[in-house]
Amino acid sequence: MQKVIVIGQGYVGLPVAVRAAEAGFDVVGFDVDAARVQRLAAGESFIEDITEARLRAVLDSGRYRPSAHPADLDGFDVAVISVPTPLREGIPDLSYIESAAAALAPHVSAGCTVVLESTTYPGSTEELVAPVLEAASGLVAGEGFHLGYSPERIDPGNEVWTFERTPKIVSGVSPASLAAVQAFYDRLVDKTVPVSSPKEAELAKLIENTFRHVNIALVNELARFANDLGIDVWESIEAADTKPFGFMKFTPGPGVGGHCLPIDPSYLSWRVRRTLGHTFRFVELANDVNEHMPGYVVQRITAALNRRSLPVRGQRVLLLGLSYKKNTGDPREAPSREIIRHLLALGAEVRAVDPHVAAHWAPEGVEVVDLTAEELAVAAITVLVVDHDAFDHELIAGHAQLVLDCRNVLRGDNVEVL
Ligand SMILES: NC(=O)c1ccc[n+]([C@@H]2O[C@H](COP(=O)([O-])OP(=O)(O)OC[C@H]3O[C@@H](n4cnc5c(N)ncnc54)[C@H](O)[C@@H]3O)[C@@H](O)[C@H]2O)c1
Repeated sequence: MQKVIVIGQGYVGLPVAVRAAEAGFDVVGFDVDAARVQRLAAGESFIEDITEARLRAVLDSGRYRPSAHPADLDGFDVAVISVPTPLREGIPDLSYIESAAAALAPHVSAGCTVVLESTTYPGSTEELVAPVLEAASGLVAGEGFHLGYSPERIDPGNEVWTFERTPKIVSGVSPASLAAVQAFYDRLVDKTVPVSSPKEAELAKLIENTFRHVNIALVNELARFANDLGIDVWESIEAADTKPFGFMKFTPGPGVGGHCLPIDPSYLSWRVRRTLGHTFRFVELANDVNEHMPGYVVQRITAALNRRSLPVRGQRVLLLGLSYKKNTGDPREAPSREIIRHLLALGAEVRAVDPHVAAHWAPEGVEVVDLTAEELAVAAITVLVVDHDAFDHELIAGHAQLVLDCRNVLRGDNVEVL
């Protein structure tokens, strides 16, 4: 049985590891976070898409083993690197990739395959990962061992486009490496899409995220203008969406969040600026528009309260949804955090409801409560930030005094949309 190592057991690495174990590989899920490893070994999943039943099945089969011991990296056939790639003060922080490559390097042997999955700027696989692995192994990437890049397209909570069903882009630093990378993923997903080098694969991922980022910024800016002009932008977007070609629907929202949209496009603009000296204007503009949305939501809350002759200070505001998107418990970079920060600074009393997000994730000063008629009735305003399926629309519109609906899913005389 071939041994697979997946470095980083987070939102990306865990699904890859579990899928590889299900596909018959002998998998070590390696992570430096010993507490996370312990929880995984006990069968506790922190990702909705990986049910505890699925996790337990691969643990019981003996084909998936979480580990924090570098010795377990030895003797692998395929290693996948899926560690974080954050921004530090606007600059890509590739230190996690560097340390993962350094940990893996002493275990690289002739004929093995290493794949980077972390989202990063074009050139990272060849310029950053290859030299570290080559120096320690004495082998040449693409000849002595295989190296490639395959971006993750995981969409948390999406039950249609699961990991297996979503086509996966694959690449290698040589034709032999591409063949090795593709052969591995062909066992995990329904369809692989080969491209000619890691750079094209790295850029493809950034194009996908930048495309979403820019289009969301477009409708967010439109939403602000339309509101001032007294036009229902949501209806206009629905109408535009009846065009059967040349249009793709994006909807306004309270800001972008998660690990990808607020961060990945900046990897691309940083690379363009550093290498070519140009500003990637679309990314900069989209950042600017999207970053101002939480502040705009607070502006709308203030205006709505003002129409009722209420100040923000001292009012109870009930926020529905703390995560960054529908039906997930991932609170990273979520706009709710920024909305809460503004509201607390204005002296509001903020309560929040999110059945998906653990209470300890709530920012300080916010009380996490259940969604009840009483909570809705006592809040001066209820703000639907995320439209989780678990939220009962009739209950909300039926009992809230006033609602700001950032997702256009509620109806009622007491409801206004973003
Ligand atoms: N979350 C998503 O939906 C998503 C989608 C596509 C791509 N990505 C990209 O995938 C990469 C990973 O993201 P994620 O969401 O899985 O992050 P995550 O924070 O959920 O998980 C990363 C894991 O890596 C571990 N780790 C850090 N350094 C390590 C090291 N040197 N050795 C071993 N483990 C280490 C951390 O402890 C953590 O458990 C990022 O580049 C991200 O941009 C994420």
